[in-house]
Amino acid sequence: MNLTDKLELNKYLEDGEFEELILSEDAEQNEYLAARARAVRESVYGKEVYLRGLIEFTNYCKNDCLYCGIRRSNKNAQRYRLSEEEILDCCESGYELGFRTFVLQGGEDAYFTDEKLVPLIKEIKRRHPDCALTLSIGEREKESYQRLYDAGADRYLLRHETADKKHYESLHPSEMSFEHRIKCLYDLKEIGYQVGCGMIIGSPGQEVGHLIKDLRFLRELQPEMVGIGPFIPHHDTPFSDRETGSVDITLRLLSIIRLMLPKVLLPATTALGTADGLGREKGILAGANVVMPNLSPTDVRDKYLLYDNKICTGDEAAECIRCMTLRVQKVGYEVVQSRGDHSNFVKN
Ligand code: 5AD
Ligand code: FES
Repeated sequence: MNLTDKLELNKYLEDGEFEELILSEDAEQNEYLAARARAVRESVYGKEVYLRGLIEFTNYCKNDCLYCGIRRSNKNAQRYRLSEEEILDCCESGYELGFRTFVLQGGEDAYFTDEKLVPLIKEIKRRHPDCALTLSIGEREKESYQRLYDAGADRYLLRHETADKKHYESLHPSEMSFEHRIKCLYDLKEIGYQVGCGMIIGSPGQEVGHLIKDLRFLRELQPEMVGIGPFIPHHDTPFSDRETGSVDITLRLLSIIRLMLPKVLLPATTALGTADGLGREKGILAGANVVMPNLSPTDVRDKYLLYDNKICTGDEAAECIRCMTLRVQKVGYEVVQSRGDHSNFVKN
């Protein structure tokens, strides 16, 4: 039996088999992998592609991840924080454009305590009861995650970045703990969030064995969402001279993840679209079913720079949505106006 079929049937794959799928240069095998991923994705979600309106509401960050352009050591980053009113305005204009999920993403900014976030979350949900709210604000204690959930947050994105402890430690300062990050993900699951994890593809020091560990971790955690994208260097970080991660490996991993977790919500990420002008379209054709256009005000767009050459920093949200709708149509799929919940969470 070939490896794609084995994966689809949820059979155990040896490390060597995963390695062969991830690194394969066999065009026929790669096309079959993508075709099965599309078939599985269509059996669960049809041709629908879900939109997430990304609101990058603060780029203050107490962390110092070596790969990230908004790390605290980057003194050249111009810091900003949106006011509650500005965030609510983003949601309002996003709603009119057809977004039914808002993602509040930010650095780990101590300014945004639970006391600040709880009323904000409640207000967004009060104004937009038919929308899902996703948080992506890093590591917090379980009690805090619980309060934000009770306030109305539905989903939480926290990439694990790499499932290998040593590799994790080589990408992060010593005060960041691999164990705490993983614990956060299990806490979020326990509370009842739809949870997203994910890793950077081709981050410095990454070996194929690390990616295999990532896949085994996904199988264990069973996240509702998985965000992956190629590593892209940022000029003001210690990794400024490292190579961009492979788009082809990212695409194969999208397909592998789709086959391992058929119902997963899988974005074609901005990093993928930055590394390759057609990256997001290729991502959708590899099994992705989510796109995340930027809803942040244009005057802060270029300040939320995790890596260089980030796309869409000059475009209005309305333009991004037009552009994404066309790009998605071109490859035979359809952007829809819906919350786009994981199929286990759809309420009837
Ligand atoms: N290249 C690619 N992805 C990056 N991220 C941060 N910095 C980079 C980079 N240089 C990703 C991390 C983080 C997410 C918000 O962006 O995985 O969790
Ligand atoms: Fe804040 Fe990387 S430094 S997320």
